[in-house]
Amino acid sequence: MVKLPFAPASALAPMEGVTGPALRARFASGGGVGLVCTEFVRVSRAALPAKVLTRAVVKAPEALLSVQVMGNEIEKMAEAAALLAEAGADVVDLNVGCPMPRVVRKGVGAAMLKDPALLFRVVSAMRAQVPGLLSAKVRLGWDDDAGALERARLLVDAGVDFLVVHARRRSDLYAGVADWRVIRELARALPIPVIGNGDLWYAADALRLMRDSGAAGVMIGRPALRNPWIFTQLAALRAGEEPKRPSGEDVFEWLLALDAGFRARDPGKRFGHVGPLKEQLGFLLRAVDDAGALRRRLLQLPDADSILRAAEAELASMPASRLDLDAHGTLGLERVPQLAEA
Ligand SMILES: Cc1cc2nc3c(=O)[nH]c(=O)nc-3n(C[C@H](O)[C@H](O)[C@H](O)COP(=O)(O)O)c2cc1C
Repeated sequence: MVKLPFAPASALAPMEGVTGPALRARFASGGGVGLVCTEFVRVSRAALPAKVLTRAVVKAPEALLSVQVMGNEIEKMAEAAALLAEAGADVVDLNVGCPMPRVVRKGVGAAMLKDPALLFRVVSAMRAQVPGLLSAKVRLGWDDDAGALERARLLVDAGVDFLVVHARRRSDLYAGVADWRVIRELARALPIPVIGNGDLWYAADALRLMRDSGAAGVMIGRPALRNPWIFTQLAALRAGEEPKRPSGEDVFEWLLALDAGFRARDPGKRFGHVGPLKEQLGFLLRAVDDAGALRRRLLQLPDADSILRAAEAELASMPASRLDLDAHGTLGLERVPQLAEA
């Protein structure tokens, strides 16, 4: 297995509209995360606006910062990469995975999977401008996974330092179960570290993926929003220690901390952070067994204070046994892919 240039070997995935500075800081300070990622910064013909740069390049002391760019204009991508590296991004990452129609219609994101020659030129041009770490985040393919290894080799030749593989095809969007087999194929074949991503719902599964596929690390998105302890649980498992099993009170405290982070980042807006708070609560409630009625009650409340009051009343006394938050996924509310024997 090739070693990653950051430790611990776990990353918070880029999520548009979600992984802003407050959430990244919260996860970085929670521990167990070596890298936190911004959502994509769209690079088109115009120069990158200064406010995009100030929102993206906000570093937390505990983890490296990866800033993701999306675009296919060779010179503009190189310029943006230079600017971001200069502004302090520890990693500049290229988005080769976004499946949304509004994105692929423009030939960017996952659409670049279909144009390897352009992909090579864009990454090579970025490489020439980035003295630090450069990475790409890819899907397995457009509508099948043929060519995944060839494309990965081309990215290595263009100079990426590591590769993140979201184990779905573009045609899957976010549905179905991730196919970890290609992660194993790439991890075994490539001379650079491969980070596996997709459906790592429980810490034990993240550990299993690393052990069985040879992936040098894992990147976790939605499962970390559902279970923010997944990174420290993985660190504990790797160290041979007993991972924490969070209770309802822990979940409520995490929600409070998120609320404080959202307020601090946007103090002028009275209702400005209710949307993000509800979104995060929605993810956290995915870990509560039989939460339908609770979800409806909490998410229809109008403001952050009433949400927090009601969440405290509901969650503070909730036993860990009702929560699907233990490292091994004992309640098994989420579907986990299997890696067939090689
Ligand atoms: C709301 C949301 C926004 C996302 N935005 C981005 C993005 O900006 N860039 C990117 O590369 N992937 C993005 N993704 C994909 C995730 O980074 C990740 O690859 C995917 O969710 C699978 O991993 P998971 O099962 O750990 O969530 C997004 C996913 C979600 C759910």
